[in-house]
Amino acid sequence: MKISKTAQSVSASVTMAVTARAKQLKAEGVDVVSFGAGEPDFDTPDFIKEKAIEALKAGATKYSPAAGNLELRKAIAHKLKEDNNLTYEPSQIVVTVGAKHAVYEAIHAIVDPGDEVLIPTPYWVSYPEMVKLVGGVPKIVETRPEDGHKLTPELLAASVTDKTCLLILNSPSNPGGFCYSPDDLKALGAAIAKTNLAVISDEIYEYLIYGDMKFQSFADACPDLYDRTVTINGLSKAYSMTGWRVGYTASPKDAAQAIGGMQSHMTSGPAPFCQLASIDALKQGQADIAKMHAEFARRAKHICTRLNEIDGVSCPEPTGAFYAFPDVSATYAKLGVKDSVEFCNKLLEEAKVACVPGIGFGCDNNVRLSFATSMEQIDLGLDRIKAFIETAC
Ligand SMILES: Cc1ncc(COP(=O)(O)O)c(C=O)c1O
Repeated sequence: MKISKTAQSVSASVTMAVTARAKQLKAEGVDVVSFGAGEPDFDTPDFIKEKAIEALKAGATKYSPAAGNLELRKAIAHKLKEDNNLTYEPSQIVVTVGAKHAVYEAIHAIVDPGDEVLIPTPYWVSYPEMVKLVGGVPKIVETRPEDGHKLTPELLAASVTDKTCLLILNSPSNPGGFCYSPDDLKALGAAIAKTNLAVISDEIYEYLIYGDMKFQSFADACPDLYDRTVTINGLSKAYSMTGWRVGYTASPKDAAQAIGGMQSHMTSGPAPFCQLASIDALKQGQADIAKMHAEFARRAKHICTRLNEIDGVSCPEPTGAFYAFPDVSATYAKLGVKDSVEFCNKLLEEAKVACVPGIGFGCDNNVRLSFATSMEQIDLGLDRIKAFIETAC
């Protein structure tokens, strides 16, 4: 069959590949510790499930409006005002099938074929592929560990050409849980203001932020750029609702119309009972978020401390999300591997621990460990990684 050049240009997700191999080994009875998960290990809170069941029984089984249920869009606008100091009318919100599709639609709404899109490393695996899907050119900007793996105004200025139309920012980030402070955002905003760039600010890990770091929405930190910003968020990570597929975009009206118009031809609104339950999640989910947050904060500290105790491993403390992103490149020669893919393959086959190669996020010196798994599994996995690295001859 003929396969389009666009489809051929897209690489399979390395995150999914490792998770699939670990699952296959587990199915064969092998005792694998998986640090591959991209989703919280908690169940969706019961009150949200009950609301969805109620909605189903009440007949919420038919198409919803293409841009999403109006009550949910009002609840999202309310959340953005209360939590983020951002003013959006419900007509500026599009409820999407997960935040993943929100990012894709936002890129599609902004990027023309040949346009360049700035993507700072380390980046979420899907961003460059989504840019390619719409005919854009991903322009990867190498950030530096000494800058906290964050894009600086200087790097931004040096990377923009007359073809660059968009910057994708993600804070707290996947991978690594790196966060831009309010001051970082303001400084970056000042540099962006001197260009014509639009910004997609992916804030899906907003509530998972630890220590002294404070979350601020990009459009709030840089109000002058409100008209050029699409804010992305969703229910997946904060409420442990990854399978429900509810995300959203909040944007200027012209972008919301473009995104909603495309969505009406691509997916229509998400399942109506998932949207109705999401209204309650947004209104009453804070206590559940707080419980999950406390546990993730505890794990973030623990995993980072233990990783730094391993010879040749260096891990910045994750200040958000549920991922650690250690640099393991000092172990490559000793282990006889040349890159992060070989490191992860050897680790999985010999020590039965699944991690995600950093190359999928643009950093071949690193691997990603998700700590969305129990403390027992974290400790077992780290014991194995330590033995794997320290006993290698
Ligand atoms: C940075 C980032 N953005 C967006 C998403 C997509 O979220 P959703 O499950 O709502 O599609 C993910 C999921 O892993 C992510 O890590």
